[in-house]
Amino acid sequence: MNYTIPQNSQVWVNVWAINHDPKIWKDPHAFKPERFLGSNVDFTGHDYEFLPFGGGRRMCPGLPSGVKSLQTLLALLVLEYDWSLPNDEDPAKLDMAEKFGVTLSKEKPLELIFKRRE
Ligand code: HEM
Repeated sequence: MNYTIPQNSQVWVNVWAINHDPKIWKDPHAFKPERFLGSNVDFTGHDYEFLPFGGGRRMCPGLPSGVKSLQTLLALLVLEYDWSLPNDEDPAKLDMAEKFGVTLSKEKPLELIFKRRE
């Protein structure tokens, strides 16, 4: 693509920018997990518009373990506990701003109150 890359350069691919492409995603910076309902976009490295585990030869080898752990943990928390936010905050108004780094985290850590269901 007419770029000159000097020998021995370290190239960083900005996956965050690729995965926030406004040409592909509507409202790309909004936290809307429901955008994936009914979508065929897959997270296993084949659909380049969504690469949470990377792609190609260096993609995450822990994908199966990561996905199963997350599903088990989330299912357990959803089934066994009632969740709420401190001070009766409205979940729809939760600040989902990100803190930029090599990996992304929430700018304000999430605080949740779990009450075990009787
Ligand atoms: C939901 C959980 C996880 C996410 C979202 C995740 C995400 C990622 C991403 C984005 C990469 C970089 C891939 C690339 O350069 O293209 C990576 C690499 C890697 N991940 Fe994960 N990961 C998760 C869980 C795990 C687990 C559970 C393990 C180990 C048990 C693991 C081990 C690794 C290793 C060793 C690499 C480096 C692979 C290499 O450079 O060849 N990950 N992961």
